[in-house]
Amino acid sequence: MQTVIVTGATSGIGLETARLLAQHGMRIIGVGRTEAHCAQAKQSILSSVPDAPIHFYAADLMQRREVLRLGALLAHDLEGNSDGRLFALINNAGCARSWYRTTEDGYEQQFALNHLAGFLLTYTLLPFLLHAGGRVIMTGSQSHKGAKVYWQDVMLSRNYHPLRAYKQSKLCNLLFAQALNDRYAAHGIRAYVVDPGLVNTDIGTKEQGIVRFAWRFRKPFGVPPAIPAQTFDFLCRAQEHPPGLYYALCREKPYSSAVGKEQAERLFILSEQLCGITYGEVRA
Ligand SMILES: NC(=O)c1ccc[n+]([C@@H]2O[C@H](COP(=O)([O-])OP(=O)(O)OC[C@H]3O[C@@H](n4cnc5c(N)ncnc54)[C@H](OP(=O)(O)O)[C@@H]3O)[C@@H](O)[C@H]2O)c1
Repeated sequence: MQTVIVTGATSGIGLETARLLAQHGMRIIGVGRTEAHCAQAKQSILSSVPDAPIHFYAADLMQRREVLRLGALLAHDLEGNSDGRLFALINNAGCARSWYRTTEDGYEQQFALNHLAGFLLTYTLLPFLLHAGGRVIMTGSQSHKGAKVYWQDVMLSRNYHPLRAYKQSKLCNLLFAQALNDRYAAHGIRAYVVDPGLVNTDIGTKEQGIVRFAWRFRKPFGVPPAIPAQTFDFLCRAQEHPPGLYYALCREKPYSSAVGKEQAERLFILSEQLCGITYGEVRA
């Protein structure tokens, strides 16, 4: 049985993706922010897929030490239950912020959760992905188009603009996927970004201020999260690695011209420095 890890699997897009993959016979490891939400999500999936092999771990992925703690737990799980193979990692957990707020590492929260958490978690799981020839899938957004990376101040600490920070974090999803492909496609790993479209979830309701205000008007126009779940399912279950980078509604889509090898490598090296790691050390 193939194992898939889904972060942010306690609500919205992540929950419906975990449910659909469980329906299609995958072994699911869900990751959530709190034990209580993990227990609720597990119950919800079991109510539609009784006896699904599903296990949840709770971790606050905004914090570097929590991602590393989770990585160690997941490594132990994969070694014991999955022959050391990880078929797919879905880096989906994300947030939107109205104000400049930082993690305990001093990083802006949208950059930390939407980009760095997936970057560091992928690093901890790389041996298992290499072993399986696995897939890494980020939940991106159409909003990456027109965005840029603010290299002199990636945390946007000097002139904070919440939407600019969100869009930058979603551009980083594509740059990270591009860099993973540049480095590891030859070793059997493929990375993708899913554009879920506008989805009716509670992402904006979990924040106060402008994000909450704006989301009240946008949310009703969103599609149900089961719709983007189909694209994750498609990318996970395709027999051969699909060839593209950016997918929506199970189809390859064009993405921003800001995504290229040079920028991808620059972000990769910066992210390594911010996480205090070097991917190069990891071998199958
Ligand atoms: N909704 C849209 O229209 C839309 C459009 C484009 C992209 N996206 C992207 O889709 C992804 C999923 O968002 P969603 O709309 O499904 O929202 P959501 O329902 O709020 O799901 C977000 C998930 O991330 C988890 N999470 C939040 N903070 C966390 C933390 N510090 N540590 C660990 N997990 C944490 C949440 O846990 P809790 O349940 O405990 O809060 C939840 O499981 C995000 O990356 C978002 O940027 C969404």
